[in-house]
Amino acid sequence: MTGTIERSRYQDYMRAAEGVQGWFSDMSAALFDAFLSLQGGRTGPGDMLEIGVAYGRSALMMGMQLRLDATLRLVDVGQALMDQSVELITPHCEGRIEPTLQFSEALPPDSLPALGTRFVHIDGEHGTWGVQNDLELADRVLATDGVVVLDDFFSETFVGVTIGALTWLAQHPGRFEMVLVGFNKAYLVRPRAARRYLEFIRDGLQPHLAACGQPPNTLLRTDDPRACGCFGLTLRQFDRDYVTREIASGLPESYLPGKYPV
Ligand SMILES: C[S@@+](CC[C@H](N)C(=O)[O-])C[C@H]1O[C@@H](n2cnc3c(N)ncnc32)[C@H](O)[C@@H]1O
Repeated sequence: MTGTIERSRYQDYMRAAEGVQGWFSDMSAALFDAFLSLQGGRTGPGDMLEIGVAYGRSALMMGMQLRLDATLRLVDVGQALMDQSVELITPHCEGRIEPTLQFSEALPPDSLPALGTRFVHIDGEHGTWGVQNDLELADRVLATDGVVVLDDFFSETFVGVTIGALTWLAQHPGRFEMVLVGFNKAYLVRPRAARRYLEFIRDGLQPHLAACGQPPNTLLRTDDPRACGCFGLTLRQFDRDYVTREIASGLPESYLPGKYPV
């Protein structure tokens, strides 16, 4: 469960992404790398989908972890940037790259294969209805053990992303469970896969981020897990690896660090 670092492509990614413009931080690259490595890295089965590609900075990390027989689907609207992104990713990707020049709202859902996608990155239209449309597409394509990453969740710049996502989740109970919010993105999985991901976040994520050379961070779960089991991740706080509801409230700890139930 925790031994993901041997599948990491982070250092190769950092070399390949040097000078590439974009909005994808090194921390997010390490987080993507952690989840993709948990899924088996370049041997993990399943396709990938990114909505909102721009210069290909985040799609590059996805492509580097794609399996030989799998497809990376890229959806964006500009021909020139899409060509540039495909050119960037191709030498580092063993699988197939399928670009689509289309607003995601105009994509017929049945044009995307159902339930075979291991990793979806939603980073296109940053408004309420756009995010809801893209969550609908993600729900169609995501495999039972896949991950959906939603950019700009809790961002004050794009308030509609958060409103759109929380409304959609409330209207579609049982489709996704949010397991992590950190460094500007939310990570969602199918509820049946949530325990496996929560255990990895608790036990394996920080070692992976440290091995990628990321700065010290703190994992927080400051609610009763029956109300909200989702973890938060921030730069170092309280000089602790983990912060619980008790610690955040100045109360005695009720669980051993690292042993919180999930
Ligand atoms: C923030 S950028 C993507 C950044 C990129 N994922 C990265 O991490 O560097 C947003 C992109 O979404 C595209 N976009 C905006 N609305 C879209 C939509 N409805 N469908 C598809 N792409 C969209 C824009 O053209 C732009 O390239």
